[in-house]
Amino acid sequence: MKPSTKIILPSALALGFLLTACDNDKITPELSVPVKDNVSFALDIQPILSGQCAGCHNPGNVNPDLRKEVAFSSLLDDGKGIVPGDSEGSELVEMLQWKSADGKNMPPAMPLSPLQIGLIKKWIDEGAQNN
Ligand code: HEC
Repeated sequence: MKPSTKIILPSALALGFLLTACDNDKITPELSVPVKDNVSFALDIQPILSGQCAGCHNPGNVNPDLRKEVAFSSLLDDGKGIVPGDSEGSELVEMLQWKSADGKNMPPAMPLSPLQIGLIKKWIDEGAQNN
């Protein structure tokens, strides 16, 4: 085997693998990632809300108020799009996946990561508790 073949062949295989991996991401953008059980609102969800949402969602700006200490009750208010135990039926999840029927995709500038969305979905499926 010439030295050049030794390099080109593995490189071609690696490139093929990368292209296949990217292709899969395109087909399912919200490719589900493994998420742990027993998601905690305080430890897992509130940091996402404080970091990615509360800059806009505060009393001086838009509803619901998603700052620490008040986010849970704001989100569980009627009409904020959470159906405890049913993430698929929760409008909030559609908004986070950028599939909102009325164009209210959140956060408006860039979607959360698949892991963050997965944690929120799991938290809703586990009953959307203040845990
Ligand atoms: C850049 C500012 C901004 C950020 C960041 C943002 N939002 Fe919003 N959000 C808005 C605005 C503006 C509205 C009102 C939209 C409307 O009524 O058309 C809104 C509306 C909402 C609503 C209410 C929708 C309704 O139908 O009443 C929810 C729930 C919501 N956002 C959740 C979130 C969550 C969760 C995050 C973080 C993951 C987030 N938003 C991040 C600006 C933002």
